[in-house]
Amino acid sequence: MENSTDRPMFRLFAYLEKYRFSLWFSSISAVVNKAFDLMPPILTAWIIDSVSHNPPVWIADWFGYTEIRSVIIFLGVLTAIIFLTESFFEWLFQRGFLRLAQNVQHDLRVEAYDKMQKREISFFENERTGNLMSILNNDINQLERFLNSSFYQILHLITLFIFASVSLFLVSPKLAWIGIIPLPFIFIGSMYYQKLISPHYQNIRQKVGALSSRLENNISGIMVVKSFTAEKFEAERVEEASSDYRDANFNAIRFNALYVPLIRILITVGFVSVLVLGSFMIINDTGEITIGALAFFSMMIQRLLWPVTGLGRIFDEYERAKASARRVFKIMDGESEIKDGDEKIDSIKGNLKLENIAFKYEHGESVLKRINLDIKQGQTIGIVGSTGAGKTTLIKLLLRLYDVSEGSISIDGMDIRKMKLENLRRNISLVSQDVYMFHGTIRENICYGTELKSEEEIMAAAQKAELHDFVISLEKGYDSIVGERGIKLSGGQRQRLSIARAILKNAPILILDEATSAVDMETERAIQENLMELAIGKTALVIAHRLSTIRNADEIIVLHQGIVKEQGTHQELIQEKGIYADLWKVQFLRE
Ligand code: UTP
Ligand code: MG
Repeated sequence: MENSTDRPMFRLFAYLEKYRFSLWFSSISAVVNKAFDLMPPILTAWIIDSVSHNPPVWIADWFGYTEIRSVIIFLGVLTAIIFLTESFFEWLFQRGFLRLAQNVQHDLRVEAYDKMQKREISFFENERTGNLMSILNNDINQLERFLNSSFYQILHLITLFIFASVSLFLVSPKLAWIGIIPLPFIFIGSMYYQKLISPHYQNIRQKVGALSSRLENNISGIMVVKSFTAEKFEAERVEEASSDYRDANFNAIRFNALYVPLIRILITVGFVSVLVLGSFMIINDTGEITIGALAFFSMMIQRLLWPVTGLGRIFDEYERAKASARRVFKIMDGESEIKDGDEKIDSIKGNLKLENIAFKYEHGESVLKRINLDIKQGQTIGIVGSTGAGKTTLIKLLLRLYDVSEGSISIDGMDIRKMKLENLRRNISLVSQDVYMFHGTIRENICYGTELKSEEEIMAAAQKAELHDFVISLEKGYDSIVGERGIKLSGGQRQRLSIARAILKNAPILILDEATSAVDMETERAIQENLMELAIGKTALVIAHRLSTIRNADEIIVLHQGIVKEQGTHQELIQEKGIYADLWKVQFLRE
């Protein structure tokens, strides 16, 4: 398969297809603008020649002005018209490219984000958050900058080269040759420079990614940093990442700063040669050029050569944009390894079957080795196992956050890999072990991911989760802000909020992963009674360390070393005198 990030800039322009018209229109306006911008030197030359009684013949031929004053007024009016036209096209192309760049950065960002969020969980485990954020922010902004300025600068340069060289050669080939002697050197210099600088920019991008990653991690973990008084350590790590970034920039600047002065020397050679030689031509009265033509040359050679110093910067911008485009399109091309199924399912009954499933994380030992389970609709299953036994992993497999390495999981007889992911996940309510809240109100967090619910439904869910009393005790009630990641709530409050979330979702399969571990016994009992009622007719998987939570489950399974070691009701397992019985004894005695 052709690697689509091989030619990132090509991809970028293919992406502009939608804005084809705007791109062409703005590009043509930019070219016209530059062409008009280059005319004043010609007009100045004509005026100088007219003043020295040598007016251009075409004015007399075409317009019949022969009197010098009329010629000068004519040229003056023409100059004014040219300036106006130039300004008009300037407005057209500036506006065009600005709009284009805004539209494209918006589209790219939205599309790249959407592609990214569809990736499998292991992708996010392997990529650093700061890095991904930097692609969605910095890289896309870089492309925006390229489209709204560097791109028309390239067009301007091309127009300039063509227009200036043609006019210079028409006026005096001899002088033109001398004037453009430095050009190939400047050009080669720019190309060479580009080669040198390119890896440095890649490096800068990488370092800025690492830096924002570091910052983002530290700010998220500020509580840990403070409680371990690790401020000094973290400050040092930030300082390290920041100085890596600075050094990467220094490396690029080394070349960058040398480039312009070197190129400038070359230009001076061309400019001085033209001036001296042109003046000699006039003094010697060879008739090759007029005074106006010399003025034209001295202006045009500068106009041609000075922007060439900017070539390096434009190559810079181009290289930066290319590196950014490569990263952005890499994200856009990323396909989730969890392939979506085709079967549309409206609702499920909740018969779960796990056949010979085995699983290991990308880097690690096998977590689950051979799990067989047959869970009937409406059953409540308790899952027990020491920490790290793979309980949460089992749930992740059920939600297809990961796919099993071997075996299969089916719901109502259909392999979950065949189902549409959206259908599968909509049919499962999960209260996960680490609750995540979004910055927003309590109401928004309870409703998260569900369609608009009425106030009564929200309150009923909160009541069942034993959250309602707490919420109404708050000044703003359901409109209270939970803070980033729910930082303003206690652990138990967060858990109860996420239970309310699951209750509101009301899916046929309910999964509670240590859902009540952070609430006190009293509250847990109350929640449980409500959940029992809620779980009627639903398949429920309840993971718990506190065994009293699952005591009444239809069946309890004990996960141990990757297999189901024990299975049965509470009574049966007690009699078996195995792992479960031991755990029970310990907890019972303690309580
Ligand atoms: P689990 O997260 O499934 O364990 O991790 P658990 O049974 O739910 O444990 P507790 O009770 O919540 O503490 C199972 C194993 O998989 C590894 C963990 O290190 C653990 O040994 N693991 C987990 C990974 O390698 N990668 C992950 O992303 C998650
Ligand atoms: Mg767990």
